[in-house]
Amino acid sequence: MQGLKGKNVLITGASTGIGRAIAIRFAKEGANVAINYYSSEAEARETQDLAEAACSEIQGCGVESIVVQADVSQAADVDRMFDRVYSEFGGLDILINNAGIQMEGASHEIEVSQIDKMIATNLRGAYLCARKAIQHFLAKQQPGIIINDSSVHEMIPRPKYVGYTISKSGLEGMTRTLALEYARHGIRVNSIGPGATATPINDWATDPQARQEIADQIPMGRVGQPEEMAAAAAFLASDEAAYITGQTLFIDGGLTLFPSFRTPWT
Ligand code: NAI
Repeated sequence: MQGLKGKNVLITGASTGIGRAIAIRFAKEGANVAINYYSSEAEARETQDLAEAACSEIQGCGVESIVVQADVSQAADVDRMFDRVYSEFGGLDILINNAGIQMEGASHEIEVSQIDKMIATNLRGAYLCARKAIQHFLAKQQPGIIINDSSVHEMIPRPKYVGYTISKSGLEGMTRTLALEYARHGIRVNSIGPGATATPINDWATDPQARQEIADQIPMGRVGQPEEMAAAAAFLASDEAAYITGQTLFIDGGLTLFPSFRTPWT
């Protein structure tokens, strides 16, 4: 993918799942990767090892990588994380807001504190990081790229996950607003919108029967893989997507195509 080699990339929530796959993919493209983690340094180090191994497959690839702890919902943590990235890499070119959580509960029963936590991590955290990255891009008078890891649920309603859908549809508004506000500064802001993807956030990922039941709902008949989400993130961050901003690219096997209309029911 053109334009990623030598770029400095920060990926939040990159110790597992889609974030890990994104770190590995960008390292493979020759980018320097800052791997943010929340709780498990060991998992983040595993991501780092995998990213460095992926890079070494490419001849002449010399990626730098760091792991950095931060809770993205906390402004002081976010400041510390960006300072560390600047001091280690000397700057930042690409921010991937990937960190996210989901909690289930009927909308009239779920604890408000759980709703707050989902919004704080998925939406406030992404905003805090985007704000820091934009300040940096403007101060350096350089182009910059922000990719938000949204979801098909920025578009598809999801009963019992109202906090999650609030946070992801909010991400859509943030993506479009920041894209418009900073387009003239050469800053592109886009989202990836994963469908059902086999990662630790989903209980069904390790249960073959539950996984099949999910797959049966998807037009392409299978769940997605984290590497497929990473490929879309790499594309949107690359020069190949130089004229794309303010968009969500759904990677969902057709889940956003109203699958119940596949066969006529009227
Ligand atoms: P995951 O659970 O493996 O990854 C989420 C990561 O975010 C974890 O590494 C976790 O430690 C980190 N995290 C949680 N709270 C954090 C905080 N306060 N600060 C920093 N990091 C924090 O699950 P997955 O699937 O890789 O999720 C990544 C993103 O993809 C999330 O934003 C999720 O909403 C989104 N997504 C996932 C889908 C799926 O089916 N797996 C579908 C649509 C979107």
